Amino acid sequence: MAYREFKDISPNASAGAKVTNWFENRFPTAFDAYRVHMSEYYAPKNFNFWYIFGSLALLVLVIQIVTGIFLVMHYKPDAAKAFESVEYIMRDVPWGWLIRYMHSTGASAFFVVVYLHMFRGLIYGSYRKPRELVWIFGCAIFLALMAEAFMGYLLPWGQMSYWGAQVIVNLFAAIPFVGPDLALLIRGDYVVGDATLNRFFSFHVIAVPLVLLGLVVAHLLALHDVGSNNPDGIEIKGPNAPKDEHGHPLDGIPFHPYYTVHDIFGVCVFLFIFSAVVFFAPEFGGYFLEYNNFIPADPLKTPAHIAPVWYFTPFYSMLRAITSEMMYALIACVVLAAGFGVVKGRMPNFIKVAIAVVAVGAVALMLSIDAKFWGVVVMGGAVIILFFLPWLDHSPVKSIRYRPGWHKYLYGIFVINFVVLAYLGVQPPSPIGERVSQVGTLFYFGFFLLMPWWSRLGEPKPVPDRVTFAAH
Ligand code: HEM
Repeated sequence: MAYREFKDISPNASAGAKVTNWFENRFPTAFDAYRVHMSEYYAPKNFNFWYIFGSLALLVLVIQIVTGIFLVMHYKPDAAKAFESVEYIMRDVPWGWLIRYMHSTGASAFFVVVYLHMFRGLIYGSYRKPRELVWIFGCAIFLALMAEAFMGYLLPWGQMSYWGAQVIVNLFAAIPFVGPDLALLIRGDYVVGDATLNRFFSFHVIAVPLVLLGLVVAHLLALHDVGSNNPDGIEIKGPNAPKDEHGHPLDGIPFHPYYTVHDIFGVCVFLFIFSAVVFFAPEFGGYFLEYNNFIPADPLKTPAHIAPVWYFTPFYSMLRAITSEMMYALIACVVLAAGFGVVKGRMPNFIKVAIAVVAVGAVALMLSIDAKFWGVVVMGGAVIILFFLPWLDHSPVKSIRYRPGWHKYLYGIFVINFVVLAYLGVQPPSPIGERVSQVGTLFYFGFFLLMPWWSRLGEPKPVPDRVTFAAH
């Protein structure tokens, strides 16, 4: 960077101003960053309730890192000592119970906050041009968060830690050719054991948090480069957007102090609820801390019912939905989609031939490889498909506010479907549950894969030029 002239300051200036000036002359980048990201970052003035969850996700990230640092001081990553070291933290370490409950509640709070944050992006079209990268970084954060939570869950070395890891790591073994070796690499042994605990510990406390932090920084830098979306889905900084004589958007307000105050209020409400859970219901009826995990891991005794923690269960349900019977439904979907493309598609013939060949190949693979593997593909695909959302949505307008009325019902059904899948994922398998989760899985994928078609249907409402805002 070019050399910057020192800024002079009057000898009569206050001591505070002189200290600030001293620092600004020696570290101007920090002061520039404050201006670019806080005092001169113009955010739309019509943010609503849904816009609090980004800041809350940051808060929970900090809570997890700080409580994690204190837990590591007393935790022992050793299969023979891990369980008792957690008991020691709970009973003997001063305030250890608080640190541990904050960390375990923080894990669930993280997912609550992030799911709501993602839903906001979904309904206001925040993933669309020019925010595709903001969304993609977000999806990568979501993947990293899942890996972080999964590996953290093994550390207390309870029955659920042990058997949950056993089930999930074994899934990798279903991948043709490389599966068994891959599972061995992840476990570091032929069964989940001390080696697994050590590598999960290392990933949980350092590798994944570093990746998460890097991704969060990229997420926010990309967001501040293109500017925030808002509930109206109107660009407040575009070339045609109204601006004042300094070029600041008329529909925007500086992040600091307006949104810092707004976010502090949100943080207070959040901490109120968070504390209520930490102090009065840290196990949350077995959903945040499963009862079976208060029993030390026993490789010789499989628990009657193994279920992951609630935030994984929608995806776990999709995994369980893929039975060999369900494979026929999936094959029918592939055949129908390829047939439709070939008959109705307006494309050169060689592409049609390619579609037909790929479809035949896919069906052959689906018939020859075990359904368990396809379950893994479906479970992974349910997350991966989110990355493609910016290119699946073809609606002429961004925000749900100006889309045809029935879109609201469709998004409503999507949420109900996701919650039903989550519920079924905690329940023991049953014939009815299996059928419902199969329909739910088809709906989940249909929602995304058919989006290029349904998002164009219907008449959108007229989008105003300025954001809708009533002073309060
Ligand atoms: C550790 C997790 C995360 C943190 C700390 C975080 C942080 C933030 C913050 C502070 C904002 C700006 C405030 C706001 O709009 O709420 C934001 C915006 C955004 N985030 Fe995240 N985020 C996280 C995860 C995610 C995930 C998982 C996704 C999606 C898959 C996502 C998608 C978005 C989008 C699209 C925006 C722009 C929203 C708009 O302008 O309307 N974020 N994020």
